[in-house]
Amino acid sequence: MHERLTGAIRAAIAQGRLGPGHLLPSSRALATELGCSRWVVNEAYVQLTAEGHLETRQGSGTRVAADPAVCAAAPPAGGAVDPEPPAWHADLRPGAPDVHQFPAAAWLRCLHHVLTDPGWSPPVFAPPAGAPRLRQTVAAYLRRARGIPVDGDDVVITCGTSHGMAAVARVLASTAAEAGVAVEDPGWFRLREVAAAAGLRPEPVAVDEHGIDVRAVGRAGVAAVVCAPAHQFPTGALLSPERRRALLAWASRTGGVIVEDDYDAEFRYDGRPVGALAGLGRDHVVHLGSVSKTLHPGLRLGWLVPPPALRGALLAAVATSGAGPGVPEQLAFAHFVESGGYDRHLRRMRRTYRLRRDALLHALHDHGRAVRPDAVPGIAAGLHVTVPLPPGSDEHAVVGRLAGLGVTAIPLSRYTIRPRPPALVLGFGRLSPSRAGWVAGRLAAALTDG
Ligand SMILES: Cc1ncc(COP(=O)(O)O)c(C=O)c1O
Repeated sequence: MHERLTGAIRAAIAQGRLGPGHLLPSSRALATELGCSRWVVNEAYVQLTAEGHLETRQGSGTRVAADPAVCAAAPPAGGAVDPEPPAWHADLRPGAPDVHQFPAAAWLRCLHHVLTDPGWSPPVFAPPAGAPRLRQTVAAYLRRARGIPVDGDDVVITCGTSHGMAAVARVLASTAAEAGVAVEDPGWFRLREVAAAAGLRPEPVAVDEHGIDVRAVGRAGVAAVVCAPAHQFPTGALLSPERRRALLAWASRTGGVIVEDDYDAEFRYDGRPVGALAGLGRDHVVHLGSVSKTLHPGLRLGWLVPPPALRGALLAAVATSGAGPGVPEQLAFAHFVESGGYDRHLRRMRRTYRLRRDALLHALHDHGRAVRPDAVPGIAAGLHVTVPLPPGSDEHAVVGRLAGLGVTAIPLSRYTIRPRPPALVLGFGRLSPSRAGWVAGRLAAALTDG
């Protein structure tokens, strides 16, 4: 029944019977009118929101999307690319969540609550390790969702993963100037830039489908390694159980520090959720997390869990960095988590992003001759896919042709230190499923034109 309702609303939008901005009835009202359960209506609204046909703002109801492109007719059949200049523009830069899905009304309620309820009132000065209430809330979340045995005193609130990395790098550089730090290749350039800015020497270490090459970390003779075990960026590899054990063994043998960037851990779609590396042994792992992918990268809110031996030094490094998220926002997030809002939001976004990923993969499959969707690895989680290009393709030329066709994509070489086979990194976090076919058609055209 929810599929019939979804189809009926979709058709009404396509035929213009429901125009941009049109307010739909509440799920309760429509369910009563149709004589069905609210679940049926909610399912239809969630599906159409994920497809980009509807926009749901907490507190202001569900409306037909304002963006006329989203409401445009279906993408060209069979992937045919029309010769007109692109009417749509698809921004597939990876790493960007859909900030239009930010739970604004719930967030504002939390902020209002902490600013007006005397039981929550923020301290005048920000405590250096973060608001105690948030440290406890994050600790409870990490125990429950990431399997890390911590309490509030173990958690330091940061402005995000890069801020945590800057603190780690400063501490490492103060004990051994120009110490080597293994970084994933390919990997997110920001963390290695932060390490280098603190005076450390980044050493690229290759990544394969099982994650970072731990033997190569051993051979590199480094003091630390930075890696993303839950979902490596951009390969999408999940660090295998053997390599997790080997990495921890390397750290306890050499006294090396493992910096765990818990990237994309919340958005795992296939298979069981995978616990954090810090859950297997905290003695050598600095665990870094943030809300940059789950809520909004502009909030600048994250956390760091130091190994006991580095706790004092890392706390001092964060405290003297002169940066920290606003205390009202820290408490608003604590309230959001404690009231169940964060889990609800994660469930909703997991579902939305999974639909977007599936739409893009299906569309790539339909245009498979050019982009080899069968070879797309690391797609069980996250907000992007890394799509191999035919051998010999010129990534930059493909990206240039795509830009001319209205698609912004990033070449894999943006994230590599040593050369790798050509590929594109495509973020689907903001790609409505209704546009996926259009994007895949553009991609096929950009490849065949070359
Ligand atoms: C691999 C990786 N880790 C972590 C982050 C989050 O960084 P931050 O919390 O500093 O926003 C990003 C953001 O793009 C990223 O690409």
